[in-house]
Amino acid sequence: MDRLCYLLLVSLSAVSAQFVPPYTEECQTGMYPPKGPTFKGPVTWYTIDLDLPPSERWKLIITDKKAAVRVLHVLFPLIVNTLPYPFNEEIKGVATASGVPLGEVVLYNIFYEIFTVCTSLVAEDSNGNLIHGRNMDFGLFMGWDMKNRSWLITEKLKPLVVNIDFQRGNKTVFKSTNFAGYVGMLTGIKPHAFTLTMNERFSLDGGYIGIVEWILGNRDGMWMSFLTRSVLENATSYEEAKNLLAQTKLLAPAYFILGGNQTGQGCVITRSRVLSLDIWEIELKLGRWYVLETNYDHWKEPLFLDNRRTPAMKCMNQTTQANISLKTVYDVLSTKPVLNKLTTYTTLMDVNKGKLESYIRDCPNPCMPW
Ligand SMILES: *[C@@H]1O[C@H](CO)[C@@H](O)[C@H](O)[C@H]1NC(C)=O
Ligand SMILES: *[C@@H]1O[C@H](CO)[C@@H](O)[C@H](O)[C@H]1NC(C)=O
Ligand SMILES: *[C@@H]1O[C@H](CO)[C@@H](O)[C@H](O)[C@H]1NC(C)=O
Ligand SMILES: *[C@@H]1O[C@H](CO)[C@@H](O)[C@H](O)[C@H]1NC(C)=O
Ligand SMILES: *[C@@H]1O[C@H](CO)[C@@H](O)[C@H](O)[C@H]1NC(C)=O
Ligand SMILES: *[C@@H]1O[C@H](CO)[C@@H](O)[C@H](O)[C@H]1NC(C)=O
Repeated sequence: MDRLCYLLLVSLSAVSAQFVPPYTEECQTGMYPPKGPTFKGPVTWYTIDLDLPPSERWKLIITDKKAAVRVLHVLFPLIVNTLPYPFNEEIKGVATASGVPLGEVVLYNIFYEIFTVCTSLVAEDSNGNLIHGRNMDFGLFMGWDMKNRSWLITEKLKPLVVNIDFQRGNKTVFKSTNFAGYVGMLTGIKPHAFTLTMNERFSLDGGYIGIVEWILGNRDGMWMSFLTRSVLENATSYEEAKNLLAQTKLLAPAYFILGGNQTGQGCVITRSRVLSLDIWEIELKLGRWYVLETNYDHWKEPLFLDNRRTPAMKCMNQTTQANISLKTVYDVLSTKPVLNKLTTYTTLMDVNKGKLESYIRDCPNPCMPW
């Protein structure tokens, strides 16, 4: 059995002690501006100066967030006990034998499993403006807290969410929402040019092979979130971004959700390690005024245990193109189970206004674990 499936089953059984039936609700309205129990707080802005040497750039953010980052250091060793046998014991053995701190060994072993099970969408309004929204759902498998009915890592990550304005010559090059200390990009905007988010793609075609190859020294593939960082920093148009995201060889599969600055420019790029399997674009002539991606190929059914796509699309369809805006996209992303226990933050982007706004989220009970 695939290791991911195995971990999923183990995780399911851990949560099943308090299994709640699939909890879905009517499409939310009037949630924006963010308030109430699903809004945990605003995200702080920082500036990163790309003219500084790379080793200097993150100093201020990490100084501010040191305590929160350190909490993860204490937490990672605890996670080892949530991992299934024999992985947990093997990892402890590796730490003992190597003298490398347990937290670091855990991290090496699970970083690909600390997934992002997200929802991303790009929609075109009736005036041809592109709106890009995403929920970052992070921390699956990393320990379910029975008492609090929450995911350990998800809760610890919320204080680490920061907005960053990356500048060169004191001018904005791009903006992103990040976890402090994570140098890749999962959510970002190049104002007036394009918007970009990345979602995890679970696939048998090379989930690990690329990463193992990397460790063995065959380094022609690129880390997915480093590619998005490069694209945000150095691509200058939607078309250039699309080509780079579609054609660069990767270490593992991924979905890239890209929005441009003119009508029709919105797509989901489904990637294997080596090539683009599919580019699904907004196509007004076909009535497709938005594209929406969770973590399943759009031409296949989602996993029955994890269908956030149908509820999200239902709410998009109900909203209609005439009423789409940052406000109504926030409503869609606030509807359970699109909003769930893993949801760390919600980001809304308006490319033509050069605007990125993010909000830390909570999902009060009853709420799906994912
Ligand atoms: C449970 O949640 C409360 C409030 O968010 C927090 O203060 C407490 O530390 C949490 N408990 C654990 C074990 O994480
Ligand atoms: C950026 O602004 C600061 C002060 O605001 C100034 O000291 C610095 O020289 C500027 N850098 C560039 C590259 O313009
Ligand atoms: C972007 O391009 C510049 C100039 O070629 C290069 O120095 C920089 O490393 C690139 N950034 C990334 C993240 O690849
Ligand atoms: C859209 O992006 C292209 C490429 O970056 C740029 O040349 C153009 O001016 C942009 N259009 C608007 C309306 O911002
Ligand atoms: C939403 O609308 C699209 C386009 O009409 C349709 O293909 C899709 O099945 C609808 N989905 C839901 C969940 O209503
Ligand atoms: C869309 O907007 C119109 C006018 O603002 C409003 O009358 C209508 O109720 C809205 N529809 C939905 C589904 O929100």
